[in-house]
Amino acid sequence: MPEPTLMEKLVSLCKRRGFIYQGSEIYGGLNGTWDYGPMGTELLRNIRNAWWHDNVTTREDIVGLDAAILMHRSVWQASGHESNFTDPLVDCKCCKARFRADQLAESQCPRKPSKHPGEHHECQLTEARKFNLMFKTFVGPVEEDAQMVYLRPETAQGIFVNFKNVCDSTRIKLPFGIAQIGKAFRNEITPKQFVFRSREFEQMEIEFFCHPDTSVQWYQRWRDARFQWYKDLGIKSDNLRLREHGQEELSHYSRGTSDVEYLFPWGWGELEGIGYRGDYDLTQHMKCSGKDLSYFDDETKQRFVPHVIEPSAGATRSLLAFLCEAYTEDQAPDEKGKLETRTVLRLHPRLAPVKAAIFPLVKKDGMPEKAMELYRQLQKHMAVFYDEKGAVGRRYRRQDEAGTPYCITIDGQTNTDQTVTIRDRDSMKQERVAMEKVLGYLLERLVR
Ligand code: GAP
Repeated sequence: MPEPTLMEKLVSLCKRRGFIYQGSEIYGGLNGTWDYGPMGTELLRNIRNAWWHDNVTTREDIVGLDAAILMHRSVWQASGHESNFTDPLVDCKCCKARFRADQLAESQCPRKPSKHPGEHHECQLTEARKFNLMFKTFVGPVEEDAQMVYLRPETAQGIFVNFKNVCDSTRIKLPFGIAQIGKAFRNEITPKQFVFRSREFEQMEIEFFCHPDTSVQWYQRWRDARFQWYKDLGIKSDNLRLREHGQEELSHYSRGTSDVEYLFPWGWGELEGIGYRGDYDLTQHMKCSGKDLSYFDDETKQRFVPHVIEPSAGATRSLLAFLCEAYTEDQAPDEKGKLETRTVLRLHPRLAPVKAAIFPLVKKDGMPEKAMELYRQLQKHMAVFYDEKGAVGRRYRRQDEAGTPYCITIDGQTNTDQTVTIRDRDSMKQERVAMEKVLGYLLERLVR
C-alpha cells in the first residue's frame, strides 16, 4: 500500500479526533458541506475570536455587525452578483459529470481518472455556459419568482447596505471599518480539497471606509497587517506569500488587490483577498435603492462617497491552512523508551482547541480528586480536558494529536510538595510547578 499523502493523513486525523466530518455523512454525505466536531468547533471559534480580538476589540476604528443571511434580491442585483457571479460550466453528456470549463486541466475524468475531462474516447463535453453560484430559496409559503431570495454568497453586502445605519446609530467618524463574521454559500461546481472549496463556508470580512485621498495608504496598511496576522498565528514565511494582482486581473474600479496565499499540499491557494474597491459598492446601492449613502465630514464640510478597502478572509479556509501548517510527525520514545512516530498538531496556543489536559498519573492515592480540583479551577478560565484512562504516555499522544499545548500530571510527589508536572507539547520537556502557580503559568504562555 502506498504511504498516505499529508492530506489523507490530515483528513483522517480530523475525523478520528473530532475536528471535521463529512456533512450528512450517515446518508451518504452531501458534497461540499462539512460538519465541525467538538475539536473543530473550538478551533474555528478560536480563529474567529483571534480575528475579532485583533481587528475589532483592540481597535477604536472598527465596529461589528451581524447581518441576515437572507437578503433582498435587489441587493444582489445592485452588487452585480445576479448577473456576474458565475463560473463557466461544461457537462459531459456521457457520464453526466459537471466541470468548471476553466479548470479542465486540473479535473479528472470520472470514467478514467488518469485523464482529464474530454480526453477519454467516450467524453461528450457541451459548450461552456454561465452558471450562477448563488443558492436560491423562497421567502413565505409560495414558491414563485417574486418570493425568490438568495442565500448570501459573501458577508460583504450586509455591511454595505448597513453603512448608513451604522453611521446614524454610532458616533463613529471616517476613516472606520465595519467587520462581520458569518456563513456564506456558493453552489461551487466542483467543491474540492476538503474544506478549501466548500458550498457552505465562513468568511471574516472588513469593509474599511475612508476618504478617497487616503485610500491608497489604507490599502497598503491593510495588506501588510493582514499578511502579518497569519504569520503571528504561526504560519511560516516559506508557506505564506502576498501576491499583488497584475493590472489585467483588477476590476475596472480597483486600484489594487493582493491575495494572502498559503502553500497547501497541492500548491498555493488564496486565504484572503485585500481589495481596493473605490466607491463602487456604495454608489451601486445608492443608484439601486435611491438612498443617499454619502458621508458628510463635519470638519472639512465636505460631502463625498467614501472609498473602501476590503480585507476578506475565509475562516474555514484558514482553519485548513492552520491545520496543514500544524501537522507534524516526529520521533518520540514510547513507554519502554523505544522510538515511535508521534503525530503532533503544533497549533498556536491561541488557536489550540484545548489549552491544557489534566491527568492523575494513576487512579488511586487521591490523585484523581486532586486532578479534578485543578481541572475545575482551570475550567473557569480556559478550555481544559480531564483524562484518567489508560497509560499516561498514550494520554500524552492523544493530546499531541489534538494540538493541546500543555499536559499537567498529578503524581505521587504532588501529595508531598503540592507540585505537578507540566509537559510542553512541542519540546516534550516537563517541569515541576507548584499547583497554585499553574493558572498563572498557563495564562502567561497561552496569549503569546
Ligand atoms: N467579498 C469579497 C469576497 O467574497 P472572495 O475572494 O470571493 O471575495 C473571500 O472570498 C474569501 O472567502 C476567500 O479568500 C476564501 O478564503 C473564502 N472563500 C471563498 N470561496 C470559498 C469556498 N467556496 N469555500 C471556502 N472558502 C471560500
